[in-house]
Amino acid sequence: METIIEKLEKEISSIFKGEASGHDIHHLKRVLNLALHLQEKEGGDRLIIGVAAFLHDIHRIIGKETGAFCSPKNSLPKIEELLEGVDIHPEKKEKILKCVEFHEEYDFSEEGKTARDLETLIVQDADNLDAIGAIGISRTFSYGGVHDLPMWAPEKPFDREHFDESENDPSTIHHFYSKLLRLKDNMNTMSAKELAGRRHEYMENFLKEFFSEWEGKK
Ligand SMILES: [Fe+2]
Ligand SMILES: [Fe+2]
Repeated sequence: METIIEKLEKEISSIFKGEASGHDIHHLKRVLNLALHLQEKEGGDRLIIGVAAFLHDIHRIIGKETGAFCSPKNSLPKIEELLEGVDIHPEKKEKILKCVEFHEEYDFSEEGKTARDLETLIVQDADNLDAIGAIGISRTFSYGGVHDLPMWAPEKPFDREHFDESENDPSTIHHFYSKLLRLKDNMNTMSAKELAGRRHEYMENFLKEFFSEWEGKK
């Protein structure tokens, strides 16, 4: 698996060069590391999990290039192309594509979760762990900056019951409530639930501090 990742890294680094919305090569490497850690604890196919974790966000780059949201499903042809020269059994390639296709399912999205295989569930957990905690806070503000979203828009209501990745929230603080604070209870594996606790608490403390400083009072 390590050799395959090394082989893919050169091309992936160049595809993700200049990405400033929190979906850069470092996100991919963290999700890879988190996914492999979860695999050690929970099982599942290490090769499928590792390669899928490393390739999961190509859809963000396609979206950036076209200026419109590209779903993970619509990024599969590009991923197939990247895997063409890589020595992986076709059945495993199929499973890698499946993990990528379903990595953005949430209990709190309208359709809920449909994937049941451990490999996809682990990739979802790893990606969601990198969306919370100190890194999650940093990434979400970077995303908001790139997409011209205000940090916080207190006049706008929190009225988003179902989360949908293709639609931006009115502000970055809104995004904590529509997605980030819901991720702790959305984790699939016990190991991810354990890791999510501290990161969740850190975000809650951050928000408390943010609101206490917002008015500019002492
Ligand atoms: Fe994604
Ligand atoms: Fe991601």
